[in-house]
Amino acid sequence: TQPKEPALPLFYGWFLLSEVEEKIKCSTMEFLKTLDTLEAFKKHANEFTGAADKEVDLEQYFQIQTPLHCTTRFCDYGKAEGAKEYAELQVVKDSYDTATELSVVGLIVTPRTFGARVSLTTEQLALWPTGADKEGIPEADLPGVEALPEGSRAHVTLGCAAGVEAVQTGIDLLEILILQQGEEKAASVEELELGTLSYLGEGRWYLQFREAVTCDATFSSFSE
Ligand code: A2P
Repeated sequence: TQPKEPALPLFYGWFLLSEVEEKIKCSTMEFLKTLDTLEAFKKHANEFTGAADKEVDLEQYFQIQTPLHCTTRFCDYGKAEGAKEYAELQVVKDSYDTATELSVVGLIVTPRTFGARVSLTTEQLALWPTGADKEGIPEADLPGVEALPEGSRAHVTLGCAAGVEAVQTGIDLLEILILQQGEEKAASVEELELGTLSYLGEGRWYLQFREAVTCDATFSSFSE
């Protein structure tokens, strides 16, 4: 008989410490409340509800996803391509269960997802698999993704609309970053206490924090 392979997790990532998770949940909910009341947002509420003049309650709209984390590698218990190779990387083994600080630089809100954009350090990028930014996305679906710096997809999914899978958050983030870099300027920009809010069309919003929020986290893995 073959020796039994160690089981691979559903995914690897940086997990926010539980007290940090509570704080982030509260402050990001506050932001949704603020966004909900902005005239600029109300004008585009139909992009969330599908109906004109219908209000949207963003706090109810998104289902919170816990534990809050920034995925580095989705392994699907070994079914995902390259999962085993990732688990065997020395840097993955050496970093396992170690502490780090995630720098959250902004928030995205779309009709599908609510997420926090994470800016990775060089050290953290060593745990970011090569090509992870565009994994599972056909080039034709996101033209311009190649031009984004490595690690652009790094994020924490904060919530998903009913029926939407968490993997969508990274795709929504990339789309927003591509739009921001392109010729098209954000349609509306509003200065909030937290930072600069831009509207990028089709229900896509991006809040760039005035100052990055540092979150204590642990590199680890998750299995259901
Ligand atoms: P994300 O990292 O955007 O939050 P699920 O609950 O759907 O099984 O997903 C578990 C975690 O793995 C989530 O955090 C999710 O998205 C991430 N994930 C799921 N599928 C993929 C994928 N194909 N590529 C990258 N990350 C994925």
